Amino acid sequence: MKRIITYGTFDLLHYGHINLLKRAKEQGDYLVVALSTDEFNWSKKQKKCYFSFEKRKQLLEAIRYVDLVIPENAWEQKVTDISLYQIDTFVMGDDWAGKFDFIEEETDAQVVYLPRTPEISTTQIKKDLEHNKLRNINSISC
Ligand code: CTP
Repeated sequence: MKRIITYGTFDLLHYGHINLLKRAKEQGDYLVVALSTDEFNWSKKQKKCYFSFEKRKQLLEAIRYVDLVIPENAWEQKVTDISLYQIDTFVMGDDWAGKFDFIEEETDAQVVYLPRTPEISTTQIKKDLEHNKLRNINSISC
């Protein structure tokens, strides 16, 4: 059985995430998603999630391509995870291209960067909602 791992925050789950997870699963048979905890997002990425870790985990576990969700607590855990979960392929979107090449030197896993789905991100959704909210407020007040 070929085992795949990917990492991310997956807040406000969108079709770019689903595309990534589908293509990650196509690389093998068993997909592990290491999901950033709220603490890790805040302390290391300065990101505040809309959905809590438990809610994001619940959503990911409902996706047919995902076999297991584990917490991501630290940047350094990747090499240990790969050994612990007997991972063959490490997958990330190509916004991370080159950043994890060291994994091929430190483990037996292959590193694959998949093209991001264009024109969608959690950040963009948050911006668009903010914009629409302002527009609605303006139209009500007019
Ligand atoms: N991803 C993707 N295509 C997109 C958005 C995300 O392939 N349009 C991938 C990322 O490359 C990553 C995974 O989905 O491998 C999780 O990304 P995440 O950072 O959680 O999602 P974003 O929408 O990029 O969130 P943000 O705007 O907060 O960075």
